[in-house]
Amino acid sequence: MFQEIDYDADKNNQKLETAWLKPGGFLGVHPAIKILGKLMARKKSGSFYMVMQIALFISISGSVFGQTQLIYPGIEQKVDSVLALMTLEEKVGQLNQHSGSWDVTGPIPQDNEYVAERAELLKNGGVGSMLNVVGAEATYEAQKLAVENSRLGIPIIFGFDVIHGFKTIFPIPLGEAASWDLEAIESSARVAAIEASASGVTWTFAPMVDVGRDPRWGRVMEGAGEDPYLGTQVALARMNGFQTDDLSGESSIMATAKHFAGYAFSEAGRDYNTVDFGRHTLHNIVLPPFEALAKSGIATVMNSFNDLNGIPANGDYYLQRTILKEAWDFDGFIISDWGSIRQMINHGYSRDLKQSAYHAITSGNDMDMESEAYQRHLTELVEEGEVDIETVNEAVRRILRMKFLLGLFDDPYKYSDVEREAAVLYTDEHRAIARDVAKRSIVLMNNEQNLLPLSKEVSRIAVIGNLAADKDTPLGNWRARGETESAVSLLEGIEAAVGENTEVTYTEGYTLAEGTGSFAFPLNFPEDDGSGFEAAIENARNADVVVMAVGEEALQSGEGRSLVDITLTGRQLELFKEIKKVNENVVAVLMAGRPIVEPELYEEAHTLLNTWHLGSEAGHAIADVLFGDYNPSGKLPMSVPRAIGQIPVYYNFKSPGRPGTGPGDDGAVFWSHFNDELNTPEYSFGHGLSYTTFEYSNFSLSSSAMSMDETIEVSVDVTNSGDMDGEEVVQLYIRDHFASAMRPVKELRGFEKVLIEAGETKTITFSVNWETLAFYAADETFKAEPGMFSIMVGSNSVDVQVLELELAR
Ligand code: NOJ
Repeated sequence: MFQEIDYDADKNNQKLETAWLKPGGFLGVHPAIKILGKLMARKKSGSFYMVMQIALFISISGSVFGQTQLIYPGIEQKVDSVLALMTLEEKVGQLNQHSGSWDVTGPIPQDNEYVAERAELLKNGGVGSMLNVVGAEATYEAQKLAVENSRLGIPIIFGFDVIHGFKTIFPIPLGEAASWDLEAIESSARVAAIEASASGVTWTFAPMVDVGRDPRWGRVMEGAGEDPYLGTQVALARMNGFQTDDLSGESSIMATAKHFAGYAFSEAGRDYNTVDFGRHTLHNIVLPPFEALAKSGIATVMNSFNDLNGIPANGDYYLQRTILKEAWDFDGFIISDWGSIRQMINHGYSRDLKQSAYHAITSGNDMDMESEAYQRHLTELVEEGEVDIETVNEAVRRILRMKFLLGLFDDPYKYSDVEREAAVLYTDEHRAIARDVAKRSIVLMNNEQNLLPLSKEVSRIAVIGNLAADKDTPLGNWRARGETESAVSLLEGIEAAVGENTEVTYTEGYTLAEGTGSFAFPLNFPEDDGSGFEAAIENARNADVVVMAVGEEALQSGEGRSLVDITLTGRQLELFKEIKKVNENVVAVLMAGRPIVEPELYEEAHTLLNTWHLGSEAGHAIADVLFGDYNPSGKLPMSVPRAIGQIPVYYNFKSPGRPGTGPGDDGAVFWSHFNDELNTPEYSFGHGLSYTTFEYSNFSLSSSAMSMDETIEVSVDVTNSGDMDGEEVVQLYIRDHFASAMRPVKELRGFEKVLIEAGETKTITFSVNWETLAFYAADETFKAEPGMFSIMVGSNSVDVQVLELELAR
């Protein structure tokens, strides 16, 4: 696979020989042997050739060179062996990531200057990774340029935003998190990896693990919501799905924990805005998912666009080196976000691109995504003595290590397999898994009149709303290679589910954004003249049941989609109210990428499903729930505010010194409250109903006191007291009543999703030890402090039963 190359061996012999002879330098292990094999093919005489022969002999025979064992060498030796062969320019080359647009089959286009320039860089060993080059053929082409033309033929890695599926699209991550179903979440990431890897993608920029409290920030759709514990479990499941436990597997791809750190706390939810919070929030809320992933073998971490307390993330030594690389022992590599190294100039942190490169590399950022800061300035920074070569070596080592672990030195084309690509993309099996994950992600918000589940024999169903027939919106933002207009719409799902005797009539009703499926901005929301109202109202009047879709179009949420107004756009609510006047049996189906603030909808919609943007199989999954083929089990991963002015509103808040609840608290105003709204959200974290009912009883602790080295059992009986089998998410919360730093009034510390048959009782047990009760204390150590704790279990973050536990020294 490594073919002969054109290169002037004489010019390089000196350097290579020196590397070889240096103790701890080139150790003659297999990748380097391959690389040197290439060089030998060009130069078959003289001392260099002799050295190569010896290298091969030593490597094959397993004898030693100096003190070092050469047989069965570990990855680190392989990495060092390659590193020792590299020139400074080649090392810097490994640190550059460039974007392409080569998701075409066939040869790399030569007529585009940008692409041609990237191709030249690839040939010269100037690129370590490409992003947005997708497809078995396109990645093959690009890989070939690097491997067959560059002096050392080091393979490149292909990154892509595989955020919720590749070609088969799964629910947006916020929706998937609502399933609280870790197996389902892992299976979704697995399918995404199987598809992406067959299309040449080696690396996904997911999961986004930013704990988000502000639904104005459009990127909450990409995360797992407001809770660090749930967020951590979801992130681990996703990482396992992408990477498996063997990165060299044929369908394993590298995952990325992003964005490091604090990005979701952009002031006012305005994307890319400044961020300011203290160490307490950093350690207890923002960092836990990153820490868990870093310690569990995530391959890469992406830093963020924001500053934190005045230091841009790319230049943050404390975050990148002190915490991630040193305290957590992270052995993958850090990639910047798109152009973010350069953006340190805009932040007013660097005087120019050269200083940006300096800040980034010295504070621990390994790879530069599209800033060209390393490409343009790193070599000179080293030559001028500003940056130590060891700093560059460290970054290169981290990248090479991952290339070895991926198996790219064995086969650089392993991901570019046209046949596999044709066989595994968008298969029936993958779509069935997408449907399964989607139905598990749906949250039953209201079912006051038990209108749901519907009978499939109902004679007439009116389906109303532009979003109900929309085949694109369910794909959501960040839909990778999902094809525009390819999702099963709600209307199609209902039509497919009902029997022959049911008539389904559709009317659009309201109009929504134009430009669906494009990344155009601003979205064009044409004035809705209400001309669709009458037909929709007539349709509703004559139906037994109305299913009305409301919500957000796909691209209203996502990156760069911050909004100050997160109510329903246009005249959706108005039409909904008109429909309700003529037919009480309305099921509202909310589709959105974020919590929507619309108190009137929540009040008026007695029957309401929150269906996020559910992916390729959205319509089928919603129909599964509407008609009771699946009993809904999702729970909100993020609070739904009553009013935009309440934001941020989240369940794990700290008690103020003057705690209040809302208007008229004790008849006085001097309490922490709003005079015009309650403090509580419309729907709390963890809320989600079922078609059956679950009763909690016999809640007990195995002991009401424990010491630091003991573990107690917390158990509760959960009875399915309805007449339908169903899944319940049993949630465990704690409260630390007093501590060296204030603790939240509630913190999720465990959950179990369990299937309980109608009439059955199951005992759910959680173990609690000091770690369950621990936090990052005022002195920034992770510890539990002796004292009183509340242990709570329940069906959501509000309806809990409480027992007290004393933690002794
Ligand atoms: C910018 C986004 O912030 C990041 O999450 C994404 O992975 C990169 N662009 C690459 O597309």
